[in-house]
Amino acid sequence: MMFNLLRGLHILAVIAWMAGLLYLPRLFAYHTRAAVGSEMDETFKTMEAKLLGIIMNPAMIAVLVLGAALVWFDGPQVLKAPWMVTKLAGVIFLVFWHSYLAAARKRLAAGRRERTERFWRMTNELPFLAAVVIVLSVTTKFGR
Ligand code: HEM
Repeated sequence: MMFNLLRGLHILAVIAWMAGLLYLPRLFAYHTRAAVGSEMDETFKTMEAKLLGIIMNPAMIAVLVLGAALVWFDGPQVLKAPWMVTKLAGVIFLVFWHSYLAAARKRLAAGRRERTERFWRMTNELPFLAAVVIVLSVTTKFGR
């Protein structure tokens, strides 16, 4: 019962984190069009800061903490399973991408437009591709 409750909370945290990882670059794509100092610029700054601070950061921490709790339930040997190694490789990419987006938010808020609208549209699906690898690894548990 406890394991399944943790697993359910883990999946809910994943949904919130993924929603932010897919939405924030969309905001960046439109934000790059807004003139620095304009009303639109200020609006995007507020939206991005709230999305990251209120949803994405807490959700990422919840995914990692609940994931660690599930590993504790499964036993440390699960960390050597091929499906978990593949899954954690995907998780490392998601944590890297989260940090990259957080740094990009600061640069945009400082009025620096270093990445194009096209860049944010092109890279927008990367977290989803990682999620495909992660979710299929944990549901198939291949190689166990
Ligand atoms: C450090 C990060 C993470 C750790 C340590 C972790 C660990 C785990 C563990 C041990 C389970 C239970 C597996 C079982 O015995 O049935 C689990 C379930 C699950 N995890 Fe994670 N996880 C992490 C991050 C993620 C992420 C980022 C996603 C999705 C993008 C994800 C998606 C899932 C799903 C969908 C399940 C349920 C699978 C099922 O019930 O069949 N996890 N996770």
